[in-house]
Amino acid sequence: MIPKIIITIDGYSSCGKSTLAKQLAKKLSYAYIDSGAMYRAITLYFLRNNINLEDEKEVKEALKNISIDFIVNKNSDQSEIYLNDENVEYIIRDLVIAEKVSEVAALKNVRKFAVSAQQKMGINKGIVMDGRDIGTTVFPDAEIKIFMLADEAVRVERRFAEMYEKNPNISLDEIKSNIAMRDYIDSNRKISPLRKADDAVELDNTHLTQKEQLDFALDLVKNIQQPA
Ligand code: DC
Repeated sequence: MIPKIIITIDGYSSCGKSTLAKQLAKKLSYAYIDSGAMYRAITLYFLRNNINLEDEKEVKEALKNISIDFIVNKNSDQSEIYLNDENVEYIIRDLVIAEKVSEVAALKNVRKFAVSAQQKMGINKGIVMDGRDIGTTVFPDAEIKIFMLADEAVRVERRFAEMYEKNPNISLDEIKSNIAMRDYIDSNRKISPLRKADDAVELDNTHLTQKEQLDFALDLVKNIQQPA
């Protein structure tokens, strides 16, 4: 039997990380974990409960009341996130959450909470996880690390198309400034800032189709499992 590995996919907002991660996980029959969804679910909880982000004690107490699970939806065969047993997969994609999530994700206690849960999910390997610090902090020993890039204009258009479907009132400018703001905060925070792990492979998908990027990643897996 081929031993299972851990595959990490990090990169800037809206680079197509989750698209690749989902397809890769499906192809390999691995679990897919969207780590960004965890930060979004925590943000949703904090907003609903008016948690003061500047009050470390309040944040710590709030985290004790949060439980996050990923459960596969049998109809779509996709894993969906649950916050305290409520399916929040769709609510957390809202712009209201996107506007606050980077601030929440920069908090020390939030990162501790999320990273420790993510590490537990990878204990048996056979997992594809995407995010910002997966190859650097969560799984520094992962067998395959991909760092995704794409031109800003392409990223904005992709995210706009995705968000417009749910909210036709959204503007390209709103998306553009949200992506720029998140990239800035995510790259400049003190703890586990977004950066390419030294041993990560870069994948710029500005001009690639989904199939081409999937083939690129599958080649990396093949090289590990059947070295030439
Ligand atoms: O992947 P996403 O856009 O859903 O992630 C939402 C935010 O969560 C992102 O702007 C930064 C934060 N995040 C993080 O800090 N670390 C991760 N591993 C994943 C996401």
